[in-house]
Amino acid sequence: MSEEEIRFFLPGPTYVTEDVRRAMTGPVIGHRSAVFKELYNSLTPRLQQVTRTKGDVMLATSSATLVMESAIRSTVRTDVLNLVCGAFSERWHAISKLVGRQADRVSVPWGEAVDPELVRSALRRKRYEAVTMAHNETSTGVINPLREIAAVVHEESDALVLVDTVSSLAGAPVEVDEWGLDVVLASSQKALAVPPGLTVFTLSERAAEHAAKVDNRGFYTDLLRYRDKHRAAGTITTPAVSILYALDRQLERIAEEGMEVRWERHRELQQLTARWAEANGFVYASADGARSPTVSCLQPPAGTASPDLVQSLAKKGFTIGGGYGDWKPTTLRIGHMGEVRERDLEGLFRAFEEVVSSS
Ligand SMILES: Cc1ncc(COP(=O)(O)O)c(C=O)c1O
Repeated sequence: MSEEEIRFFLPGPTYVTEDVRRAMTGPVIGHRSAVFKELYNSLTPRLQQVTRTKGDVMLATSSATLVMESAIRSTVRTDVLNLVCGAFSERWHAISKLVGRQADRVSVPWGEAVDPELVRSALRRKRYEAVTMAHNETSTGVINPLREIAAVVHEESDALVLVDTVSSLAGAPVEVDEWGLDVVLASSQKALAVPPGLTVFTLSERAAEHAAKVDNRGFYTDLLRYRDKHRAAGTITTPAVSILYALDRQLERIAEEGMEVRWERHRELQQLTARWAEANGFVYASADGARSPTVSCLQPPAGTASPDLVQSLAKKGFTIGGGYGDWKPTTLRIGHMGEVRERDLEGLFRAFEEVVSSS
């Protein structure tokens, strides 16, 4: 682990260590060159370990939202079911409608996780080509029972499971093959702790077969085009090679730590945050049992305004996230993902206590 002290706790982008940042100064190389192919081929097995798949893992040098849109355009002809529990899962619904698909939603109140039984009922009412969800809802600090939901989808239907793991991949268990996840996508700037600008994503064989029957998948949004290029050790267009160098270095660090150890570290960071929150009058906005290991969304003690706290911490050199959307005035978010360690969080909590006692 790095010795650097982290004072940056946004729920994305997250802190990137100095060696990973330095890796980006490597030479700019042609993306059809042998040296690029060597780099690309060395990333694949490590990305398969992170996503726990033997299948294809691809890279888009874009943020995650492009791959969300691409997944809908590539794998859904008409009917899609969007599971909504906050702002980012809502984004799947917005995209599905904007690209003209027939999109239904199952919604739960902000702060709650999606109940797999609600998904079962919806699947019994109508046949869908795909079900979308956010594994970890960054706006509310909720982690959804992905494994259970995927199992229900497979029991009840042949719908594809399209999952945004933007703020969970490399911070919480995501088992692509074991859980039968068809598209899993995550941008680089969250628990992967790489600078923004990359998205890692998987595409199952059955999703690829379904995609082959979908017309008008576009160019930049065609996941099959990504897959074909990937199988030839390449990207569909000129990639952001410098960020690939950063990913290369960071994947070494992740492999050194080990996935299970990394998941456990994130779980412990959440527990540490929960103990501190309880002792200091902060209340979780996310439901008990659904609390994310990567981001805690908290309501401050009565009489303390979240935006003021965020600002006062910034003056002390600590960055945390404000609340999101409708929850902006009433909550704040502490990102404890990526390379954050216990001692970094303890430093943040000391600063918090100073700020609260002087307010
Ligand atoms: C859960 C989730 N999904 C999607 C996104 C959008 O990702 P990007 O900005 O990489 O497109 C975010 C960004 O914070 C997120 O937290």
